[in-house]
Amino acid sequence: MNNFIFYSPTEFVFGRDTEAQTGALVQKYGARKIMIVYGGGSVIRSGLLARVEKSLQEAGIPYCMLGGVQPNPIDTKVYEGIDLCRKENVDMMLAVGGGSVIDTAKAIAAGVPYDGDFWDFYIGKAIVTKALKVAVVLTIPAAGSEGSGNTVITKVDGLQKLSLRAPGVLRPVFAVMNPELTYTLPPFQTACGIADMMAHIMERYFTNTKDVEIGDRLCEGTLLAIIKEATTVMKEPENYGARANLMWSGTIAHNGTCGVGCEEDWASHFLEHEISAIYNVTHGAGLSVIFPAWMTWMTEHNVDKIAQYAIRVWGVAESDDKKAVALEGISRLKSFFTSIGLPVTFKELGIENPDIDRLVDSLHRNKGELVGNYVKLAKQDSKEIYRLAL
Ligand code: NZQ
Ligand code: ZN
Repeated sequence: MNNFIFYSPTEFVFGRDTEAQTGALVQKYGARKIMIVYGGGSVIRSGLLARVEKSLQEAGIPYCMLGGVQPNPIDTKVYEGIDLCRKENVDMMLAVGGGSVIDTAKAIAAGVPYDGDFWDFYIGKAIVTKALKVAVVLTIPAAGSEGSGNTVITKVDGLQKLSLRAPGVLRPVFAVMNPELTYTLPPFQTACGIADMMAHIMERYFTNTKDVEIGDRLCEGTLLAIIKEATTVMKEPENYGARANLMWSGTIAHNGTCGVGCEEDWASHFLEHEISAIYNVTHGAGLSVIFPAWMTWMTEHNVDKIAQYAIRVWGVAESDDKKAVALEGISRLKSFFTSIGLPVTFKELGIENPDIDRLVDSLHRNKGELVGNYVKLAKQDSKEIYRLAL
């Protein structure tokens, strides 16, 4: 196990009706004026936004609003938010929604106190040293942004989708998580969230770091819980227990718990970000296509952990033929994705003829000559993985 520092100070307020506590929580964290950020309208239709506003009004917290954040959020909305925050003297962001809304709120939070262009942080030209506080009312378990210090934004000019990691400053101060808020999710969004949280665990699990038994077992146990609850929730969307377990799994998957002390991979995410940047597909659906392809390529290049995963997560029988074991595990993963309505090929994703050269060029331009850690991928390797996903 490698040395590590793990600091995860978010206060999670979890359970039924917890959104009613939002005003009191905002007060506790000392905000004078907040900006509510939300998406395309699901929080209006569900009545959640009205309940959050009521809670703020009862606590006497003034606020302004920024709506219309789109999935795969874009830089232009961030600029709009930065201007509004400065004009309104906002000192805390309140994201009411999913990863796209939270990531936009984080980008604005970093951009407001910075003199330059907020995009500098995403291209590594500047480091975030201060930011407005960010708080969350979560409506979809998926990206894990409620417990992470990460944000992912797409620059419209050039379709560059980049992530920024600043856990010291951008981790939310609190996250309200009421599983009942996820009952209204369309089945496809539920499934995409499941693929994303599984991917967050697998990015950490596929490591060459030795002696990470606790990490391995946390990853395997959480994956098993997700797979079980996914099957339930697809049949019974209003099953509170299943929704609750999935919601907490989404946080555990990405707040760092599963990856402490190991070198994480993240190549599959970077391969996917190119797809969602260029073709605007849902992140989780891109991952259900790319991850099995990445794993299949790994059976030829570094099979050990893939075989361990097949045995421990998918119950494949042990054998000396590790490649066969690994391939059977991948086949069971794909069947699982298919069973919850997710695509496992580009074609099923609705992209008949992906421009693989463009994806590869953009990936390595954004992320460097070598991508990932489990096996470092050069251009030719990335190309082969995209091809395996056809
Ligand atoms: O926009 P509205 O109308 O709210 O609808 C949303 C949106 O269309 C809808 N939705 C959310 N909660 C709902 C609901 N519909 C009905 N009932 C509810 N309770 O779901 C759609 C997707 O929302 P979005 O916020 O885009 O989903 P998600 O949480 O999956 O976020 C995806 C984004 O997060 C990034 C992804 O790349 C993508 O841009 N990621 C962020 C990470 C992070 N910050 O740590 C890590 C991830 O790996 C990921 O890359
Ligand atoms: Zn993800």
